[in-house]
Amino acid sequence: MIKPPEFHDRMLSLGLARVSEAAALASANLVGRGDEKAADQAAVDAMRNQLNMLDIRGVVVIGEGERDEAPMLFIGEEVGTGEGPEVDIALDPLEGTTLTAKDFPNALTVIAMAPRGTMLHAPDVYMDKLAIGPGYAPDTVTMEMSPSERVRALAKAKGCAPADISVCVLERPRHEEMIADLRSTGAAIRLIMDGDVAGVIHCAEPHLTGIDMYMGSGGAPEGVLAAAALKCMGGQMYGRLMFRNEDERGRARRAGITEFDKVYTRDEMVTGDVIFAATGVTDGSIVQGIKTQPGWVETDTLLMRSKTGSVRRMTYRTPL
Ligand code: FBP
Repeated sequence: MIKPPEFHDRMLSLGLARVSEAAALASANLVGRGDEKAADQAAVDAMRNQLNMLDIRGVVVIGEGERDEAPMLFIGEEVGTGEGPEVDIALDPLEGTTLTAKDFPNALTVIAMAPRGTMLHAPDVYMDKLAIGPGYAPDTVTMEMSPSERVRALAKAKGCAPADISVCVLERPRHEEMIADLRSTGAAIRLIMDGDVAGVIHCAEPHLTGIDMYMGSGGAPEGVLAAAALKCMGGQMYGRLMFRNEDERGRARRAGITEFDKVYTRDEMVTGDVIFAATGVTDGSIVQGIKTQPGWVETDTLLMRSKTGSVRRMTYRTPL
């Protein structure tokens, strides 16, 4: 039997936190300035510089786009010093570019690292997502259930009324029908403007966030990042890729996907151990945003390892 490659996640995790911190620090001056592109670019540059200091042989599997559309951190780009373990990297240097530009809550910098070949190479298409937190029996809610059936099933499992369930949903016209069905149960809905990685993570800490379930379609790359986070924190997640045209199917084929209708579980999106770091750019319910004061700046980072289920929250202060 072939031994799986060594993944020194304990040693690598602090390095990963530095990468997400650097991206957040770089975008700090662009919070609330109305310039999504500049904020994203600053985060991309800083994330790439820091990533290239890590002793890894890394390949970006979830990145800024395909090679011809992203000059940096493109899918397939090799990162790290070229010494050390072979790893896959999934990243979103600025998850919530509009949230950052408008200074709305829950903009994050996000990165996950796992042994080579253990993360789904999700193409840049939509994914239908469903997530709940830890402590529930497998398949308490499923993709086959309607939105209202999911609320009732989760309420039964939680031992509460459907009206006591809170669901997080991206506010989009495409979700209107789903929202109407959810409303028929009396459930509360937290509509978010952007940022469904944070949306999914909310389910893992309902006591802090007030959210029990996430559902709806968003970016597939963000789906894999969210699955990595839930794998560390506990919780169930499902995702099904959605294709609007032949170009999108082509992207999936190029990424090695053959089963177009498959419902991926959390552990099919991230099959091995993973480490995950996210730093707040704007204040949110998971981490605080960047705090700049005369002379110093402070970041707040969530750093997690699935191998141990450890969840660290780290503040980092550095002189300006
Ligand atoms: P960006 O940070 O790239 O703008 O993405 C934000 C986001 O809200 C993601 O969290 C989400 O998965 C996706 O956009 C949803 O896409 P759309 O805006 O097309 O509905």
